Amino acid sequence: MIEFTEATKVYGKSDRAALDHLTLTVPKGCVYGFLGPNGAGKTTAIRLLTGALKATEGHVRVCGIDVAEDPVGAKKMIGFVPDSQDMYERLTGYEYLNFMADIYAVSRRIAKRGPKNIWSVSS
Ligand SMILES: Nc1ncnc2c1ncn2[C@@H]1O[C@H](COP(=O)(O)OP(=O)(O)O)[C@@H](O)[C@H]1O
Ligand SMILES: [Mg+2]
Repeated sequence: MIEFTEATKVYGKSDRAALDHLTLTVPKGCVYGFLGPNGAGKTTAIRLLTGALKATEGHVRVCGIDVAEDPVGAKKMIGFVPDSQDMYERLTGYEYLNFMADIYAVSRRIAKRGPKNIWSVSS
């Protein structure tokens, strides 16, 4: 579950909020999309959710974990695919998968078995 509560972001000294008291709940298992014109605040909302930006006001929670209070705990619950496909080109595909497994504290033994088994172990 994802919860935005009065989440607000004002960039720098701007006199206008880029995101203005967003309150939104995305229930567990729900696929949710942000649609809106350029400048509506979609990217800002995602940046607050991932912890890349701090909210000026309000809260964002992932599975009940406040992104500002426990950034690492919240990040453990998040997978993020950015619109730019930057890869670590020095890593092989296998090394990259191991790197991701390490970040999410998945043991080498389980990671080797593949994604299907990772999900069945963690859920
Ligand atoms: N890094 C930034 N510094 C200052 N203003 C920003 C920054 N990023 C976005 N904005 C402003 O915040 C508002 C929302 O932008 P953004 O979240 O990128 O919207 P969207 O992703 O919906 O196009 C816009 O007015 C944009 O100009
Ligand atoms: Mg955007």
